[in-house]
Amino acid sequence: MEPALWSIKYSPQAWDDFVGQDDAISQLRKLAESKTGQNMIFCGPAGTGKSCAAFVFSRALLGDTFTANFKYLNVRDLRETTVAKAKRDLQTLSKLERSERTELDEYMSAVYKEAKADLALKGHTGEPNKSQLLHEAIRLFASTITVSDEMVKYLVLDEADALDRNMQQALRRTMEMYSDACRFILTTPSLAGWNTAVVSRCLVVRFPAPQDDVVEKLLRTIATKERVKCDDKAFRAIARESSGDMRRAINLLQVCAAGVQSVTEDVVYECSENQLNKDVREMVSLVVNGSFAQGRDLMKRLLAVDSYGPDEICIAVQADIMNRPLDSLTTDRILQRIADIEYRITQAKNPFVHLSALLASIGEMTSAKTA
Ligand SMILES: Nc1ncnc2c1ncn2[C@@H]1O[C@H](COP(=O)(O)OP(=O)(O)OP(=O)(O)O)[C@@H](O)[C@H]1O
Ligand SMILES: [Mg+2]
Repeated sequence: MEPALWSIKYSPQAWDDFVGQDDAISQLRKLAESKTGQNMIFCGPAGTGKSCAAFVFSRALLGDTFTANFKYLNVRDLRETTVAKAKRDLQTLSKLERSERTELDEYMSAVYKEAKADLALKGHTGEPNKSQLLHEAIRLFASTITVSDEMVKYLVLDEADALDRNMQQALRRTMEMYSDACRFILTTPSLAGWNTAVVSRCLVVRFPAPQDDVVEKLLRTIATKERVKCDDKAFRAIARESSGDMRRAINLLQVCAAGVQSVTEDVVYECSENQLNKDVREMVSLVVNGSFAQGRDLMKRLLAVDSYGPDEICIAVQADIMNRPLDSLTTDRILQRIADIEYRITQAKNPFVHLSALLASIGEMTSAKTA
């Protein structure tokens, strides 16, 4: 069996489990204790505790009614649910192995039925499209689940930065329509690109990237529990390499600890930087060799699973390009493109789009030279 990921094993389950984020946690704790429910946006970079805090807050506020009155939806997962997948009815789903169907599949099946019925009411006979499904997924929970004893219910929309402008408008209407009974918690890395009408209806709770000493404190606690020997320099190196991303810091500690007696700074260096550089080398090679889709998948993994920052990926791509035997004109053009994309990433809210454009340009510029 695969060993459990420490970042999951040690994810905060109660207020006291959080390390750092003192302002956010004390603010949320007070709100939960006074049963003050409001719409909120948890805003901050990756791995700072936003999703965990959304669960802990909702559990603390809802108490016994948590199971009935809480729903978690990840907007990126919702967007990846195809109409064909959502169309499967419960009977079809029940024939699948438990490992082949998720709670979301079952929810989306109900969502599909509602969206289709809604279209029929409006005189349309066609299928709901993906954005109608997404809208209905949010509306369905807000509108139907029973609320006990005048408690509100909570809908967490995790990674809500994946909502486009139209979906944000629809969300604003849904928030207003069900404001008596349903509260929303949205998580997003930044407020850039957010509809101001949505933001003004929410309490914004900030989750800033913690300082290295806070990350070190968390790492030391986990190392003690896991009986991992790690020297001071190594703790410092992991914290530095993780740039305030707690998830990444914990994962890196776990990777470093595998198969060594004692974690040193050198082990950290080997396990961290090299892995990103290796993956980026593979990603650039894929697009240079014409496998754009595979290169893009790898980039998606680096962003979404390994939690590398888009700016770090840009810098690693730049280093990789400098090491390739390209003619100077092509190298110059690609470097200019990297600078352009890096600037755009700081201005925009979906780095995936811009890094994809960068990979497409690298593929194009290098193939023009080799054709
Ligand atoms: N403040 C914290 N205290 C203790 N552990 C933390 C904290 N923040 C993050 N972690 C660790 O990092 C993991 C990821 O946290 P979480 O999923 O809440 O981050 P997030 O802010 O939602 O990140 P993302 O923006 O990538 O979704 C947790 O499971 C936990 O192990
Ligand atoms: Mg999260």
